[in-house]
Amino acid sequence: MKPPNSCVSVAFVVLISFALQSSSSSHEDFLQCLYLHSPNATSFSKLVFTTTNSSYSSLLHFSIHNLRFSSDTTPKPLVIVTPLRPSHIQASIFCSQRHGLQIRTRSGGHDYEGLSYVSHHLPFIVLDLINLNSVQVDRHSATAWVQSGATVGQVYYQIAQKTKSLAFPAGVCTTMGVGGHFSGGGYGFLMRKYGLAADNIIDAHIIDAKGRLLDRESMGEDLFWAIRGGGGASFGVITAWKIRLVSVPPSVTVFRIPRTLEQNATKLVHIWQSVGSKLDKDLFIRVILQRVNVNNRTTIQASFESMFLGSVGKLLPLMQDMFPELGLVREDCVEMSWIDSILYFANFSSGSPLEVLLNRTDLTNGLFFKAKSDYVRKAIPEDGLEGIWTMFYEQEAEFAIMILNPYGGRMDEIPEDEIPFPHRFGNLYKIQHEVYWLEEGNEAEERHINWIRRLYAYMAPFVSKSPRAAYLNYRDLDIGVNNNNGHTGYDEASIWGSKYFKNNFKRLADVKTNVDPLNFFRNEQSIPSLIPSH
Ligand code: FDA
Repeated sequence: MKPPNSCVSVAFVVLISFALQSSSSSHEDFLQCLYLHSPNATSFSKLVFTTTNSSYSSLLHFSIHNLRFSSDTTPKPLVIVTPLRPSHIQASIFCSQRHGLQIRTRSGGHDYEGLSYVSHHLPFIVLDLINLNSVQVDRHSATAWVQSGATVGQVYYQIAQKTKSLAFPAGVCTTMGVGGHFSGGGYGFLMRKYGLAADNIIDAHIIDAKGRLLDRESMGEDLFWAIRGGGGASFGVITAWKIRLVSVPPSVTVFRIPRTLEQNATKLVHIWQSVGSKLDKDLFIRVILQRVNVNNRTTIQASFESMFLGSVGKLLPLMQDMFPELGLVREDCVEMSWIDSILYFANFSSGSPLEVLLNRTDLTNGLFFKAKSDYVRKAIPEDGLEGIWTMFYEQEAEFAIMILNPYGGRMDEIPEDEIPFPHRFGNLYKIQHEVYWLEEGNEAEERHINWIRRLYAYMAPFVSKSPRAAYLNYRDLDIGVNNNNGHTGYDEASIWGSKYFKNNFKRLADVKTNVDPLNFFRNEQSIPSLIPSH
C-alpha cells in the first residue's frame, strides 16, 4: 500500500503545471518589457532566444564546457539574450528585476560548476555576451580594450597581429571568456614575471543593478578593486576591460619533459616543489601528473612544462644551477615566438595557423569533469606523493590529472589585499585536481566525484590550512554554497568566501552592500550583501 506516493505525484503535477504557467507568463511579460525598453525592438528581437526558438538549444550548448551541466534535467534559462550594446543589457536587468527573474551572465561558459548558465533558483535568463567580443589593441600605449565576450585566444591573436614584442599574462586555455577569467584572477605561463590577468587591468566598464554604465572613475576604486579577482557575477555585468600589455622578447624557449616513476618522477617532483617558486622570474616550470601506459605497463608520469623568456643559451645554465636533477639538454628545448608558445601549450598541432586561436570550442565541450584546488606552502614528503600515486591507480582516475603551478616571482611581491585574489607570498605552488570521464549518467558521475573528494581528503594534511585556500576560477561548490535562494548571511558565506579571498572577503561584502544592497546579482557562491535578506 503506497498512498503517500500517489499523493506526492498529484502534488508534483500541480506544482509543475503551476511552475510552467508562471514561467510562461513571466517570460512573455519579460519579453514585452524588454522590447518596450529598448530603442529598436525589431533588431533587438533577433538577439533574444526563447525555448521555442530553433537556435535556443544550440546557442545554449555552444558555450557549455562541462557536460555535467548539459543534460535534459539541468535547469534551463527561460530566455537567452545575446546583447550587442549596453542598452540591451540595461533593458535585460530592468525587466528581470520587474518580473522576478534572475540573471546569469556568460562570457566563455568555462565555469567549472556551470554557474554562468545554470541556476537552481528558477526562473532565470542568460545574458550571453558572445556578440560583445571586440579587441582593440593600441601598441603605442601598450594597452587594449577587450569586450567581455571575447576569448583569451582572441586577445592573444589580436595582440600578435599588431606586435611581436607585447603579450598579456592570462590563461593557457584559449577558449576561455575574458569576462569570467579576468574577473576571477586568470593565470598562465607569464604569472611569475607579471602576475595575473587581474593584476594588469587598468579600467573597466560595468553595468550595475541600477542599470548604470560605469567606468573606473564613475564606479569608484572600491568596485574597481572588487571586480579584479572577486568575480564579476556578484556586482553587475562587466562589458569591457582595459588591459596593460607586457613586454616579451622576440623569442622564448619552451620544453616539455615527461618522467615516469621508473625515471625518478617522485624524486623530481619532490625537488621541484622547493625549486619552482625560487627560479628566476623569467622561468616558469609547471608539472602535470597523470597515469599513463608505457610499453603496456601502467605508471605515473610527471610532465615538466616550461616557458623561459629568453634563449636556450641563457636557460641551460639557469637550469644547471637550480634544477640539474631534471637533466635538461639543448635538444629538449625549442625557441619560438611568444604567440607560438601559446599554440604549443594549448596543444594545437605544430604549424597550425594563428587563426585557430579564434575558435570558441575545444575538447572540453565533450567531457564531463569535476575539479578542486589547493595551495601548498610546505613541500609534500616523498611518501605523501606516493599516496597520491596510489590513488591515481584507481579505476576512476583513468583521466585524472593534477596540475602543479609554481608561485613566487611577481606573485610574491604583490600584497594580499592589492586585489581580492589573496594567494601571494608564502605559496610554493597551487594544485588543480581534476577528474574527467566519458560515460553519461548519475552512477558514473557519483563514482568520479567521490574519487576526487577522497583525493581532496587525502591531501588535507599537506596543503594550506585555516583556511584551506582555493582559487575562485576553479569554482568548487563542495566548499560551501549560499542557501536561501542565494541570500546567505555573511558568516555562512565566509566558509567558502575565506577560502577564495582570505581577509579580503569582508571588503568584498562591503562593496557588494554598497553597489547591490538588495542582492539582485546572486548565485550559489556570490558575495553576500550585509543588508539582511528579505
Ligand atoms: P563563464 O562565462 O562560465 O563565467 C564564469 C563566472 O563569471 C560566472 O559566475 C559568470 O556569471 C561570471 N561572468 C562571466 N562573464 C561576466 C561578465 N561579463 N560580467 C560579470 N560576470 C561575469 N583559469 C586560469 O586562471 N588559467 C587557466 O589556464 C585556465 N584554464 C582553463 C581550462 C579549461 C578547459 C577550463 C574549463 C577552465 C580553465 N580555467 C583557467 C578556469 C577559468 O579561468 C574560469 O573557468 C573562468 O571563470 C572562465 O571564464 P568564462 O568567461 O569562460 O566563464
